[in-house]
Amino acid sequence: MTTPIDAEPPIAPFPANLRASGVPEGDDAFEQVLDVAELAPGTMHRVSRGDLDVLLAHTTDGIVATNDRCPHMSAPLSIGELDGCVVACPLHEGRFDLRSGDPVRMPTTGGLDPDGVYHPTWTPGGREPKVDPPGKKAQARALTRIRRFRYYPVRIRDGRIEVALPPKG
Ligand code: FES
Repeated sequence: MTTPIDAEPPIAPFPANLRASGVPEGDDAFEQVLDVAELAPGTMHRVSRGDLDVLLAHTTDGIVATNDRCPHMSAPLSIGELDGCVVACPLHEGRFDLRSGDPVRMPTTGGLDPDGVYHPTWTPGGREPKVDPPGKKAQARALTRIRRFRYYPVRIRDGRIEVALPPKG
């Protein structure tokens, strides 16, 4: 069966325990953020409200909304690369699955994954593992923990993407 060209894109599901905090239930939380036509399949877009930057991604599973901050060191993912459901960060080459919120490739700087497991600094193949020089910088990299994404519910109304956001502060 073929999908009509003008069919609305699906909304990608996300793990219930990863809903962004502070987002109330109910219709009042939804705000119009973008025309559907402005988010083609395979693209990403940043929308900002106050100091909240939201990443909209049109993945192969549908549209998803999360913070436009890399879960490693907060780089804007919206200027990274989207491949299917995986977003690549422009800063340290970390890759994150937008379906689960999990890293699928740790940043080159290493650190702690969401479960607290330590990953060393990346070393190119065939070379001796890099040894971080002692000091606060290396310590900070090693102790930086990647959090799983937190997600904002999304819906489509009258050709507009709406995202449920926390109340304006
Ligand atoms: S800030 Fe994204 S991988 Fe480091």
